[in-house]
Amino acid sequence: MRRWIVPVALLLSAGACAVPVHRAQTRAPAPTPSAAPSRRPVDPAELALKLAGIQPGWPRRGYPLPPPRQKIDCGKAKCVALTYDDGPGHDTARLLDILARHHARATFFLVGGMVLANADGALRRMVRDGHELGNHTWSHPQLTALSESAVRAELARTQNVIERRTGVRATLMRPPYGATDGRVAAVARRMGLAQILWNVDTLDWRDRVTPVVARRATAIKPGSIVLMHDIHRTTVDAAPRILKELTRRGFVFVTVSELYGKPLRPGVGYSERERDQ
Ligand code: NI
Repeated sequence: MRRWIVPVALLLSAGACAVPVHRAQTRAPAPTPSAAPSRRPVDPAELALKLAGIQPGWPRRGYPLPPPRQKIDCGKAKCVALTYDDGPGHDTARLLDILARHHARATFFLVGGMVLANADGALRRMVRDGHELGNHTWSHPQLTALSESAVRAELARTQNVIERRTGVRATLMRPPYGATDGRVAAVARRMGLAQILWNVDTLDWRDRVTPVVARRATAIKPGSIVLMHDIHRTTVDAAPRILKELTRRGFVFVTVSELYGKPLRPGVGYSERERDQ
């Protein structure tokens, strides 16, 4: 799937800066009436948006455009996916500033109710800065205790609010408390959502001590998925230390999708990437 990623990156950057080229393409002679429909030229801008996860035909005026994916083979390079759950919250904007200063990308598993309670700004900026948005349900219930239709409703409502606010359709979900089973997996599969767990738990919700969070978040190996929560001030306070220390050790900060470098399979659970996987 690497072959997909490079053209998408090129197309996205072309869309941002190469307007004359695009105009030249739109002025190409119209196909003759006898031309087969399958030979209709593909609109590069439309294709790029589609591959970036933005719904075709979605009204994109005013929606933020994500930058190209990072081109990196995390089967070989030292990658880490930092993930932040339960937001957006009061400290999320500050976290986005810190991540931007370190040119670091992360993945945010958003709670729909929190999205509704907070201004549009954070989500739109996440998209613009290259972070990935994931679904963390509407009200953070234990999904294994709910009926199948309730699980679907929890996920669908959050899918919709993310899409309405950003134009992006999430392809990842994280079950609250990591509680999942065959039923939850089946709903996730039908909704096109991979289940993202973790292999490094900072327990930052329990131990609100910045150095402790930083120490746990840096006790990682390449391919790790680190669980944190951007609703805790102490966790956001730990971000500069985490980014500095892991940068010093040669880690690259990637989104979950970049970590795997291929579309993840809906319904399947992922908790880390093994080397050369
Ligand atoms: Ni959570």
